Amino acid sequence: MSVSSTVADASVCTPLPVLGRDVLVPLVTGGEVTYAALDYAASAPALQRVWDDVAAYAPYYGSVHRGAGYLSQLSTDLFENSRATVAEFLGCREGDQVVFTRSTTDSLNLLAAAVPAGCQVFVFETEHHASLLPWRDAEVTYLNAPRTPQQAIETLERALADRDPYGPALVCVTGASNVTGELWPVKELAAAAHAHGARIVLDAAQLAPHHPVDIAESDVDWVAFSGHKLYAPFGSGVLAGRSDWLTEAEPYLAGGGASRKVARRTDGGVDVEWHTTAARHEAGSPNVIGVYAIASACKALTEAGFDSLVEREQSLVTKVREGLAEVDEVKVLSLFGDDAPRVGVISFVVEGWNSSHFAAALSAEYGIGVRDGLFCAHPLVRTLLGSDPQDPGECGAPEAEPGERSLNAIRVSFGAGTPDEHVERFVRAVKELVRDGARWNYRTEDGRCVPAV
Ligand SMILES: Cc1ncc(COP(=O)(O)O)c(C=O)c1O
Repeated sequence: MSVSSTVADASVCTPLPVLGRDVLVPLVTGGEVTYAALDYAASAPALQRVWDDVAAYAPYYGSVHRGAGYLSQLSTDLFENSRATVAEFLGCREGDQVVFTRSTTDSLNLLAAAVPAGCQVFVFETEHHASLLPWRDAEVTYLNAPRTPQQAIETLERALADRDPYGPALVCVTGASNVTGELWPVKELAAAAHAHGARIVLDAAQLAPHHPVDIAESDVDWVAFSGHKLYAPFGSGVLAGRSDWLTEAEPYLAGGGASRKVARRTDGGVDVEWHTTAARHEAGSPNVIGVYAIASACKALTEAGFDSLVEREQSLVTKVREGLAEVDEVKVLSLFGDDAPRVGVISFVVEGWNSSHFAAALSAEYGIGVRDGLFCAHPLVRTLLGSDPQDPGECGAPEAEPGERSLNAIRVSFGAGTPDEHVERFVRAVKELVRDGARWNYRTEDGRCVPAV
């Protein structure tokens, strides 16, 4: 049976087909428009190719690893071949492991549980909470927000120079910011980490969907990413990289699949021999559909040609940034400045507007789905907004009055499936809303703006 079906569109100038591209949504002002999904940084739509591959496989679905039947064997092959596809997609080295998880958050928590005792962890305060928070049992050093890529390297070098050179250490860094879209100097940070005897994990949640990631070339020790941001929203994620810390650690979850042998002891206890492969951290029945979907997405992006996808996305980035630059009231958030290379993730505030109100109007009056808030990167967004990065205020707290500093931001994000029309509609909508104001009344419900209908 062949479970591979359609081949992705390889044209430089055409978006890859995604599910939902023809979905109509109602406007409060009357009529319907096709939904403009511009919240890829949160979750990207499924690639049509991924959906087709999953649908072609679904009738053959069977239990993985433990079944004797034909479909179990077929599913096991598919599962393990998916591991090989992901390893190839990430440019894994000989001996690297690809562990399937639920998401980037899960992957980083798994690594946090596997770091050796006494490990020092270094993480910039600008990280997404998934990178900032999992290191509960380690000694964590939070590094101040750098304002240039060079400053990031120097800040890390200074922090590492002060550390105990004989103990284990890990640096956790994002590849592309989920707030500014800016690319971080991953290769240079990896070189700095290694020069000081530390390891490095790359949070590629926002990088992998927009840019080729190569573990060997960038010389990072681990990479984490999520399927649902890589056009494969079926509940799987990946942690790939060095096997030693993973093999030496206790299994992330204890249970079937992670254990090779289990026997009762004469003293009444239980002896366990754990797997030393990726299975050690994949206890329980694996999500074969989710894993196959990730592998399908990896193939689709590779076959479409990442260079042409990057080129096309950059033309959309330029369109949005140039459009926003024409509106005096809009301030785009940036850590590294206008010239920094970036992916299709752009956050901004609009003077005199509550961000939740603006996002609600984009949705209700233009059929455009963006995101507003602090994007699970509270210290970074507060720094960029000029508010207090130590403010423990909650996401969705009351917004600034017109003329005051905004407390939340708006984020527009897009990728391989985005047609030009979506970003053009977005730029037009921003200009119209700023010039003419909202055409509808809105009210606040549970801290969010919604149309008053
Ligand atoms: C940079 C970054 N890292 C980690 C995550 C967490 O990803 P997930 O929610 O899929 O675990 C996100 C999600 O937005 C992210 O943007």
